[in-house]
Amino acid sequence: MRGMNLDQRFPGLDDLRAHARRRLPRFVWEYLDSATGREASQARNRRCLDRIGLMPAILNGPQDVDLSTELFGSTLPLPFGIAPVGMSGLVWPDAEGHLARHAKSANLPYGLSTVASQSPEDLAPHLGAHGWFQLYPPKDETIRKDMLARARDAGFKVLVLTVDVPVASRRERQVRSGLTQPPRLTPRLLAQVAQRPTWALGMAMQHKGDGGMPHMRTLDKYIEGAAASALSSTAHIGYLLRTAPDWDYLDWLRDHWDGPLVVKGVLNAQDVPRLEAAGADAIWISNHAGRQFDAAPAPIEVLEEIRAATPLPLILDSGIEGGLDILRAMALGADFVMMGRAWHYALAALGARGPAHLTDMLTKDLAANMGQLGISDLKSARDLKRLNLD
Ligand SMILES: Cc1cc2nc3c(=O)[nH]c(=O)nc-3n(C[C@H](O)[C@H](O)[C@H](O)COP(=O)(O)O)c2cc1C
Repeated sequence: MRGMNLDQRFPGLDDLRAHARRRLPRFVWEYLDSATGREASQARNRRCLDRIGLMPAILNGPQDVDLSTELFGSTLPLPFGIAPVGMSGLVWPDAEGHLARHAKSANLPYGLSTVASQSPEDLAPHLGAHGWFQLYPPKDETIRKDMLARARDAGFKVLVLTVDVPVASRRERQVRSGLTQPPRLTPRLLAQVAQRPTWALGMAMQHKGDGGMPHMRTLDKYIEGAAASALSSTAHIGYLLRTAPDWDYLDWLRDHWDGPLVVKGVLNAQDVPRLEAAGADAIWISNHAGRQFDAAPAPIEVLEEIRAATPLPLILDSGIEGGLDILRAMALGADFVMMGRAWHYALAALGARGPAHLTDMLTKDLAANMGQLGISDLKSARDLKRLNLD
């Protein structure tokens, strides 16, 4: 594929997704692509976005578009960023490194998950100005303090508390594929790996000393000794350490983190006044890409009500697939949009060149749709005439 024009070969996210599927072992694909239950909320995310029409404009003459936006007192050149994905490194060798470096060069926010396969220390040299550390909340206060200190020392500026995973979710496709937690190369998985040589070779080289598989490196330090011996083969290490947070937990975090604090996984506008009072700096509206609860509303359905409830910055994700979706979210009141799977489809399809290609694709799609709408900056998205395309 060297030398081939990426725009021609992979003009859209669907092309990246299809190619990713061909390059990933089945269990990895299922981990990345699946949702919970019957995957109804995942489907609803798409359906609800498609329902939002925006009235195109005519006779506006040539326009230069400005895609910049403000968040936490900084100007960001683009209105989207990289959402935290646990075990990102299972999807592609050094996924976290590739994504953090791309985020640095494009000046995008990069979210690192507590259960990623690289640690804050691993990523410190690659972080740009907008590193966000996502916390799955440790029970133990000493571990909690230590994790926050590690994130801060590594250069993460924003803390994200994920609140839509009070318990582990069930993802049947994942179980059917034979994936265990932590991932272990059973004969069944090895048979799947054998069919995907590029992935297999990359993983073997990246994780030479580690049995060829990534693991949750941030947690290494806390699971030595007693806890490690308590691990059963099916336990998700993250769940041994973490708790389901409550409002007091949020207060504790507010007291112990100086920078912006974001609460991720909000869908109910009634929760918003209390989040505001607790000192949240932004609300992240998300249904976790439909991976947690199959009767959850799509973020885009609840966005306007949440917008009406608070002046806080609103971040939105779940099912965003292109520039038009980003504009839809901004038209309904979002300040910023994040994406999870798309970056990983891009990485799995194109390796190191994937993230930049996705950014390029999204940038062009934003500009093309802004041209149709007759707007030259993103603030104007709020004033667009909205149509219900039911
Ligand atoms: C494979 C996978 C792993 C994820 N792991 C985490 C995680 O560790 N922490 C978290 O807050 N969200 C996690 N998410 C949710 C993403 O941060 C984000 O909310 C979601 O992917 C956005 O939807 P999209 O993938 O349709 O863009 C994960 C999502 C996927 C697809």
